[in-house]
Amino acid sequence: MVYDYEYFKKEVYKLTKIDLNAYKEKQMKRRIDTLISKNGIVGYENYVKCLQADQVRFEEFVNYLTINVSEFYRNPDQWELLDKEVIPALIKRFGKDLKIWSAACSTGDEPYSLVMALSRHMPLSHIHILATDIDKQVIAKAKVGLYAEKSIASVPDDLKRRFFTKVGASYQIAQEIKDCVEFRQHNLLKDEYPAQCHLIVCRNVLIYFTEEAKEEVFARFSKSLAPEGCLFIGSTEQIIQYKDMGYYRMNSFFYGKNK
Ligand SMILES: C[S@@+](CC[C@H](N)C(=O)[O-])C[C@H]1O[C@@H](n2cnc3c(N)ncnc32)[C@H](O)[C@@H]1O
Repeated sequence: MVYDYEYFKKEVYKLTKIDLNAYKEKQMKRRIDTLISKNGIVGYENYVKCLQADQVRFEEFVNYLTINVSEFYRNPDQWELLDKEVIPALIKRFGKDLKIWSAACSTGDEPYSLVMALSRHMPLSHIHILATDIDKQVIAKAKVGLYAEKSIASVPDDLKRRFFTKVGASYQIAQEIKDCVEFRQHNLLKDEYPAQCHLIVCRNVLIYFTEEAKEEVFARFSKSLAPEGCLFIGSTEQIIQYKDMGYYRMNSFFYGKNK
């Protein structure tokens, strides 16, 4: 038996159901090798044994693997477009009970930003966001809702005053915002997608996927959207074959689903 990266990928799949074949290999392997040596372990086989035996190391591995940096209102210009153009257009088309999915939501910064952005257009009682991520640890953090000052730096001042309370050096998001978000664990590469969404937000995760995996996810998002629904992607991303997948391009970061 050769205990190489191929072996490691299979073992990781058995343990986590994360398919490392769908992630860009060079980058991922380098990250994993760094973590293994930081743990003072030599060889994939020994690291797999460690992951099988030690729940703390296992969680640390999944958390590290999934690269979960996030922040509120990440790329504020795009949130401005969401607020001024996209949300009003969606309300006009579908009314105020919008079905919204924040996919790969990390520590909650993105779905909570969505709630705040929507709060400019409707009462909180109308807002329900489904927020999913593969990583249980980030979901747990999201549910706590405590953030460093720099994570909330781009939140508009009035919303910051209204929805955050300073607790020591951190900021606690208001319960009324939390109540609008339902968190669930979900693997974009494996699990079923929700249907008839009006807005899907998926940003800064597909950059880690191979081209094939990325295309598959974009195609599946298209199937998940209601006709004339909208997909909001990250600032370094683009959908090359968007027409074949049933999208039209609204601008660089927003794609509409054809009627
Ligand atoms: C860099 S963060 C992006 C967070 C947020 N969307 C943003 O733009 O700020 C990437 C997130 O993708 C999640 N992720 C990685 N692979 C995933 C998969 N196969 N399915 C679902 N989420 C995944 C990670 O756990 C991580 O929280």
